[in-house]
Amino acid sequence: MQRQLIIAPSILAADFAKLGEEVRAVDAAGADWIHVDVMDGHFVPNISIGPDVVKALRAHTKKVLDVHLMIAPCDPYLKAFAKAGADIITVHVEAGPHVHRSLQAIRALGKKAGVTLNPGTPIDAVDPVIGLVDLILVMSVNPGFGGQKFIPGALEKLRHLRALAGGRPIDIEIDGGITPEVTPEAVRAGANVLVAGSAVFKDRTPESYRANIAAIRHAASLARGEAA
Ligand code: DX5
Ligand code: ZN
Repeated sequence: MQRQLIIAPSILAADFAKLGEEVRAVDAAGADWIHVDVMDGHFVPNISIGPDVVKALRAHTKKVLDVHLMIAPCDPYLKAFAKAGADIITVHVEAGPHVHRSLQAIRALGKKAGVTLNPGTPIDAVDPVIGLVDLILVMSVNPGFGGQKFIPGALEKLRHLRALAGGRPIDIEIDGGITPEVTPEAVRAGANVLVAGSAVFKDRTPESYRANIAAIRHAASLARGEAA
């Protein structure tokens, strides 16, 4: 049984001056989840948004808020993101010495827990926490910026991590440089959640968001052998 196909537009590529409107637009345009990139200018060389923005966005959509924390340390902020309305909170294995504790904390807050790793990090770190995660995110760019090129080495990681997940109810998400062109390979390698920033928001109009999401969904559905 394949896990459900999920398209998660990353609002990092949206117009930050009208984020609520942009979230409503991608929601209406067929997004399954809304991917929220949180950056601290320390773990990654860019700064984006914090829990107050997540809280404000919560009022604009009922869809799953998939919050990707690129911050170190992350533990002091988990509660704030949970209270702000995140549904899934994903932490990096590189963010500190206690990823196991972070994942326990996310679950104790009643949220789904995700683990992720940078392109330069081997997948071994995921093995000891496999029983604590609802989602594994494979980074296919170095985190910090949208609009980068897909790193093909992510495909091998997807294959290994999908096998590691086995029959467990774990979503495998891919993030960075996703386009309709690379989608088939990512899906065949085991990803069922596709994050896309630039590929969704590039044309800056709500009508284009629908077409851009549909193009990714179509490419993914074909690769999954489903009617598109
Ligand atoms: C990168 C972020 C990604 C990014 C993806 O640090 O985690 O979610 O927004 O953007 P694109 O799809 O443009 O690579
Ligand atoms: Zn992300």
